[in-house]
Amino acid sequence: MDYKKTLLILVFISFLFNCENQDNATLEVLIIPQPQEQTLGKGSFVLNNSTGIDYDDNFKVSAEFLKSYIKEGSDIKLEGSNKISFTKDETLSDEGYSLEVLPKNINIKAKTDQGAFYAVQSLRQLLPPEFENGTFQGNDIAIPCTTIKDEPQFSYRGMHLDVGRHMFSVDFIKKYIDALAMLKMNTFHWHLTEDQGWRIEIKKYPKLQEIAAYRNETLIDHYNTQPQQFDGKKYGGYYTQEEIKDVVAYAQNRFVTIIPEIELPGHSQAAIAAYPELGCTGEQVEVATKWGIFEDIYCPKEETFTFLEDVLDEVMALFPSKYIHIGGDEAPKTRWKNCDYCQALIKREGLKDEHELQSYFISRIETYLNSKDRQIIGWDEILEGGLAPNATVMSWRGFNGAIEAAKQHHDVILTPGSHCYFDHYQSENKDEPLAIGGFTPLERVYSFDPIPEELTQEEAKYVLGAQGNVWTEYMKTSQKVEYMVFPRILALSEVIWSYPKERNYKEFVSRVEHFHKRMDALDINYANHLYEIEGKLVTNNNKPAYQLETSSKGKTIRYTLDGSEPTTNSKTYNNPIPITESVTLKAGVFNSEGKLGETFSQEINFHKAVGKKISINKALNKSYPGSGAEGLVNGISGSDTRYGDKEWLGFSGEDIEIMIDLGEETDINSIETRFHNGQGQWIYAPKEIQISIGDDLFKTIKIPKSNSQIVDIQISPVEKGKIISLRIPNYGIIPEGKQGAGNKAWTFIDEIIIN
Ligand code: ACM
Ligand code: ZN
Repeated sequence: MDYKKTLLILVFISFLFNCENQDNATLEVLIIPQPQEQTLGKGSFVLNNSTGIDYDDNFKVSAEFLKSYIKEGSDIKLEGSNKISFTKDETLSDEGYSLEVLPKNINIKAKTDQGAFYAVQSLRQLLPPEFENGTFQGNDIAIPCTTIKDEPQFSYRGMHLDVGRHMFSVDFIKKYIDALAMLKMNTFHWHLTEDQGWRIEIKKYPKLQEIAAYRNETLIDHYNTQPQQFDGKKYGGYYTQEEIKDVVAYAQNRFVTIIPEIELPGHSQAAIAAYPELGCTGEQVEVATKWGIFEDIYCPKEETFTFLEDVLDEVMALFPSKYIHIGGDEAPKTRWKNCDYCQALIKREGLKDEHELQSYFISRIETYLNSKDRQIIGWDEILEGGLAPNATVMSWRGFNGAIEAAKQHHDVILTPGSHCYFDHYQSENKDEPLAIGGFTPLERVYSFDPIPEELTQEEAKYVLGAQGNVWTEYMKTSQKVEYMVFPRILALSEVIWSYPKERNYKEFVSRVEHFHKRMDALDINYANHLYEIEGKLVTNNNKPAYQLETSSKGKTIRYTLDGSEPTTNSKTYNNPIPITESVTLKAGVFNSEGKLGETFSQEINFHKAVGKKISINKALNKSYPGSGAEGLVNGISGSDTRYGDKEWLGFSGEDIEIMIDLGEETDINSIETRFHNGQGQWIYAPKEIQISIGDDLFKTIKIPKSNSQIVDIQISPVEKGKIISLRIPNYGIIPEGKQGAGNKAWTFIDEIIIN
């Protein structure tokens, strides 16, 4: 059903017939995640002291949640005769509900208390946001009459949080769980152990608390910043078993299951620092102080299994969840290769290699957990060397793990980095706070489809759902976690709950905008990139023009071309702006009150190749396609540091040839371009390039060796020509002693400027 059309028609009908109470044209039903079916009725229910509540023990959790939400949010006592009633409906699915708002009552129907809880969360979003923090002032609250029938598409709707890299208070963990519940998510994946810190109290192993829970210092700034520097401050802590019990009960009361993760065999350096005998070498290591992947992993000897089984016993006593996450990712095999015990074990068990040894490790842990009636989840590396018989796979390195597991008839949960990693950047804004890297903006998350198209309908049934991951290397505070998680969690919650077939991003954005007030009231430090502008050079009748876009609806873009700040008096943007000279374009998104968000600023260097025909003899690289070949002649240069931005084009190991057609014989005074030379990232400027103009033979230009991040090339031919060709041979194999030695180098090229 096209919800928007229905809504419009109903708004129109209610307008025509002018209903008894309030005109619903002024009331909206804007809910995230969007319900599967919703229709707007006539009139409204007025929440005030005539309102009461009616429920039995079947709906204790959901009804009491609503009661305290209303009582704490307002002065309403819920003792009146216009009832909000909870009724059992066995025909609905386990998490489904119906919510009917009529002028004199509100009817919630569900098969389970959990279903009713989700009805309450929808109703909550129809109440003023001031209810969230008890600042509501007033008496009669009109709730639009509406009928909602709803149920989730996926049974696993999760969010993860890494508390190993940075730790967060119990209060914050509860706030996080509250947010999940509000968005009808039902799983919190609590990543409790890491190389940089062990965060769960295990009574049998006190050194986990004394040693593994603390690191001596922490890396400052980004991992790639050289030289690496450390803060010299001890950091750490752990959750006591009492705290964990409290959090688990808190989550249960919101229908959120907590899945604990105890990482093995890798990401275990903190535990090995506490108990060196768990590693292969037996040597003392320290709790890691920087990020990355570490070679000291658990050695699969009997005493390690005893340790892990003891740990898991205490974990299972705290967490009633059916699933225990056992990690399984990023376990380098170096130590196992050099360990006599490991090599003897490989022989004795008839294993092929260290991957099969990892499989053996995971399968033993699975057998143990299965014997206690629990199931394992592992990151997709657990596929390597053979999947443990009953394992559920969490597919993070793209979609392939999910496809492979589902084809083997194993359950899968999707958390691909491309759509579900909320530690990535979400904006190209230069002022964005430090993040690990990547680029996963809100729109990308909203476009996520948890069911890979490679799966048949039958195989797709193994997809339990999806999850957002929050790795906290670059999130020291809970405010930063909130900034990275919100609003992307809103998009994810909708993708998993409603699975909208035809996604209207702008319509979703208008609901996000509406949701801002609720997040304000909840004191959530969300990121707001809704009023950012995206610009690109286009051609209009073969003439270059600059196009501006924003994702929020009903706003005006205003701009200037002289470098001044745009104001309410600046020109309104309607169509792409013709570019006939170099300009500094500044633009902003405005509503009637003024500018919203940050000013967009773009220097456009109008040179002779801008908007001209360009081709490259190699396909664009999927990871670094820039803005296509045209991006090399769009008048815009890339950033000096972020080679992943829209202006740089990256090619791995390939020789490329670029041809620019200026359209007519043109005086060429100079040709300029530049290469990124980030050798730590395997990116090398070429050793030479060859250029030809018109029918000239190619001329070779040698590029001297350089250690700077950017290598500029400028040649001044002063001749006439129409076609300009650049041959750019790849640097070649990365030399010994450099990062990535032995691999092919990348070539990254920026704007080709012709004057
Ligand atoms: C992961 O991101 N290492 C699962
Ligand atoms: Zn070993």
